[in-house]
Amino acid sequence: MDIVIAGAHGQIAMLLHPILKKHGHNVKGLIRKPEQSGDLQKAGAVPVVADIEKEDDISEAVGSADAVVFAAGAGPGSGKERKWTVDRDGAIKLIDAAKKNRIKRYVMISAMGLDTPRGDEVFQAYQKAKAEADEALRKSGLDYTIIKPGRLTNDPGTGRVKLARSLDGGEIPREDVARVIKAVIEDHRTIGKEFDLLSGENSIESELLRLVEG
Ligand SMILES: NC(=O)c1ccc[n+]([C@@H]2O[C@H](COP(=O)([O-])OP(=O)(O)OC[C@H]3O[C@@H](n4cnc5c(N)ncnc54)[C@H](OP(=O)(O)O)[C@@H]3O)[C@@H](O)[C@H]2O)c1
Repeated sequence: MDIVIAGAHGQIAMLLHPILKKHGHNVKGLIRKPEQSGDLQKAGAVPVVADIEKEDDISEAVGSADAVVFAAGAGPGSGKERKWTVDRDGAIKLIDAAKKNRIKRYVMISAMGLDTPRGDEVFQAYQKAKAEADEALRKSGLDYTIIKPGRLTNDPGTGRVKLARSLDGGEIPREDVARVIKAVIEDHRTIGKEFDLLSGENSIESELLRLVEG
């Protein structure tokens, strides 16, 4: 498949590119800093420079593809304004670009616990921005899957996860989130599904099977 990733120099995305490449997919990554191009190429993705905050229409940068993945984020150091411009509006611009370019499949990296925003003002803005992006995707008519991981770590992935419509708090290595994204993109039975995601005991395949059959 031809896959376009927004937020392509992010930590999950940089783990995702080689996994997708290894499984025969072509990966294009949107970045806002041209100096990150070399890193993307080394990871197996074709870089395209596009700033999802500054540009109103990113459809030209996205181009044609079979699927898009939203892996961008303003990040923990940003103020609340960028939660709206990146986490919400960036995701919505990717929805608009997918529709314009007739790309049906959209995989969203969302987050757990958005229904009950908690923490300080900035963290609450982040959670509301992510929730509004998810809602826009549900209403978009696209073939979506919304993946809602718990707290992300940089521990090595284990390939063992727990996923369900609703889970209690916990964490998961970014590498395992990347593996789940790859599995979701390849499994059309996950279209229209959304799920919380944590480290667990079972293989990704068996957990996804439980989800799609449940
Ligand atoms: N941290 C957690 O515990 C947690 C839990 C659940 C879900 N999540 C979500 O998981 C997702 C991925 O996490 P991660 O740790 O892999 O993210 P990350 O390392 O913070 O990467 C985010 C990427 O978004 C890019 N970005 C920011 N603004 C942009 C813009 N205007 N135009 C283009 N790209 C832009 C950044 O690029 P630059 O290098 O240019 O800044 C960065 O490469 C995020 O959506 C995050 O909200 C996080």
